[in-house]
This record gives sequence, structure tokens and C-alpha cells, in this order.
Amino acid sequence: RAMVQVAIMGYGTIGSGVAEILAQNAEQIKHGCGQDVALKYVLDLRDFPGSPVEDRIVHDFSVIEKDPEVSVVVETMGGLNPAYPFVKASLLAGKHVVTSNKALVAAYGTELLAIAREKNVNFFFEASVGGGIPIIRPLYRCLKGEKILEITGILNGTTNFILTKMDKEGASFEAVLKEAQDLGYAERNPEADVEGYDTCRKIAILTAMASGKEVNYEDISTEGITKITDVDFKYADKLGTSVKLFGTSRLDGDEVHAWVAPVMIGKDHPLYAVNDVFNGIMVKGNMLGTAMFYGSGAGKLPTASAVVADIMEAVENADHNVPLGWSSERLVIADQKTSVHRYFVRVEGTGTELEQAAAAAFGGAELVKLDSLNDEFALLTGEMSEAAYAECAAAFEKTAKIRQRIRAEF
Ligand code: HSE
Repeated sequence: RAMVQVAIMGYGTIGSGVAEILAQNAEQIKHGCGQDVALKYVLDLRDFPGSPVEDRIVHDFSVIEKDPEVSVVVETMGGLNPAYPFVKASLLAGKHVVTSNKALVAAYGTELLAIAREKNVNFFFEASVGGGIPIIRPLYRCLKGEKILEITGILNGTTNFILTKMDKEGASFEAVLKEAQDLGYAERNPEADVEGYDTCRKIAILTAMASGKEVNYEDISTEGITKITDVDFKYADKLGTSVKLFGTSRLDGDEVHAWVAPVMIGKDHPLYAVNDVFNGIMVKGNMLGTAMFYGSGAGKLPTASAVVADIMEAVENADHNVPLGWSSERLVIADQKTSVHRYFVRVEGTGTELEQAAAAAFGGAELVKLDSLNDEFALLTGEMSEAAYAECAAAFEKTAKIRQRIRAEF
């Protein structure tokens, strides 16, 4: 039987994981796609003497680009440069490309998908969202007859680890962030995780998959977890809730709202039990109802496992383009001000008069008080648009100070 030759670009955590799986699971892979899958090149700036791939290291991309034997190129470099020009050139050279790079897919997915279609090859990116969790393929295969009403995910392991620790141990954000960095969970730039940018790119990709239209990730209102404090979790504990960083996109009538924000949720929420570095994605379809996808959203072997499955998908569909992804038509994301939520609000000060004024300011709200706090109280509003909330809050802040505002879904 024929043999498939693969090149890996970027021998970092994920790239080396892909090489490891290709070697270790060679039998399963051969059985699964009917051919041997061999690693021909590894492109990297470094040499890796003594590693299992030392004889296959190349430093010049054109070696891969020009080798007609290489039919599948794996991009695990991360970042946009040179990942973008290398991926584009690989597709233009008629090679299938598999990537784990959400930044690349979020920024250039539309163009790369179009080139793949035109060249009758495939551009697969299962590992770019949710690491090892199958979510991209379920969206374009298993759920393709569904009208997707909502996708809500805990899509970032670092922030989920931080929020879980804050919840379970009462620790401060700063202390847990430091621990996450020491454990090596946080990426080089912790800002991308804690400010919600990573989640934003992932929910942009999922929203584009669900709608079939291009999503500009800059249109997605994005709030991270840096303002969540240990005090918020004291209230959450009393309320029997937790706070999670959600990436959500939701059909509201004809409009699509999409946002990234910390959300206070109750124990009955399907994503409540998604803790530590795990990711979870809830998908609601108009016929399906709710489906949940859960697992390791990051890490070497889980992410590499999704890459290897994409390589096999490319091998099995070597002579045609599998229809997936989105067109160049831009999805209009509705103004976040019209998005409707409840809000958990912490107010500075005490006294019955202030409490009544606060409740009234938000059109009637439930009071939440903690015995351990003697200089503030909280309230839970009813459902209102973000614009209505902002108006109520601005009016109320003429007389008192709001310390915190977290969207609530319970
Ligand atoms: N920084 C990401 C996370 C890695 O923490 O989930 C996977 O994209």
C-alpha cells in the first residue's frame, strides 16, 4: 500500500507530541486510514540532536514546499508569522494543511479555507479549539443538520484553573495567577488568557463554524477575569454558584450576540462541573437540544491527538476538499448593549435606606448580604439589556459606588 509523507512545522510542545503519536500509534493510524503515515520533515530553527527526529530536521521551508512527496503539512508553530505565509504556500502547492493554531484560523481562516477549496485540498483545525476535545468535526459532520442556537464554552484552561482555585481555596487572583505561571499553564503572555483574548478567538472560530459566515473576532465584546476577586467568590459560595469565564454566541431571533465574560452560574448549569484546566463546550441545536463536549483543552498529547486525527482525515479525503468552515460573507454580531442578562452587583456602603435605594435603582433586585462583610452588600437584578443595566448603574452611581458587576445565569 502507498505511504503518506507528512511534514511538521514547529517542533515545540504540540509538534513534538504529533511526532510522538505518529510513532507510538503507528499501527492504529495505519489501520484507521489504510496507509502508513510517515514523518518526512520537521521544520524548526533549532536542531534537536539526540531527539527521535534529528535526522528529519530542516531549516528551510522551501524543502517542504517543493517536495512533491509531502502531501500533508502540519503547522504547530503558533503565531501568525511565518505560520501564515507557510500555510498559505503549502495549500497553494496543493498540500493538505492541519493546524493547531487558533490565532491563524481566527485571523486568516476565511482565506485559507477558500484556497483549500480552490486547490481541492483540505485545511483542518480541530486542535485550534478545545485542544483534544472533538468539537470542530462534530459541528461540520454530526450536527450539520442542526440550526445551532447557542454555543457556550469554557475554552481556556489557564483561566479555568485560576477561577477553580479561587473558588475552592478562597485565594486571590494574583496569587493563583502566579501559581499557574509556576506550573507552566499560562502561555508566554498571560494577558492572552486572563484578558479573554484566547477565548475570544476560539468562540469566533466556533461561531463561524456554526453560522457558515466569517466572524471578525474584534466584533466580539471581550472581558477577562482580572477584576474577579476573592470577595466575589464569598458571595458565590453563599449563593451556591461559581464564576466561570464563558465564550458565548447565541441566536436571539435573527440576531447573533457573541461575547466573552465571567459569568456567575448555578450548580445546575451543564458547565458548572468543568473545573481545573479542563474545557467544556455546550452546544444547543434546535432539534438536538443540548450537547456537551468535555475534556483536555490544552496540553501536549491531547492537542496532538486532535492534530493526528486531522492528518488521518486528510489522508482519507486526499483527492477532494471536505466541505467545512465558512464563506467570506461577514456575520453581523449584534451590539452587545442589546444582549440580555441578569447581573450580580456589589455596592459599597450599608444601611436599609441604601439597600432599598439600590434594589429600586435596578427595577427591583434581590439583596444578598454576607455576615463577614460590614462595608458592602450585593444584589441580583432581573433580566435586562446591557444598555439598560448601564443606565441604571450610572444613575445609581450618583449616590453610591458599585464595586463589581458580573453577569449572572442562574
Ligand atoms: N492558553 C490556552 C489555555 C492553551 O490555557 O487553554 C490552549 O489554547
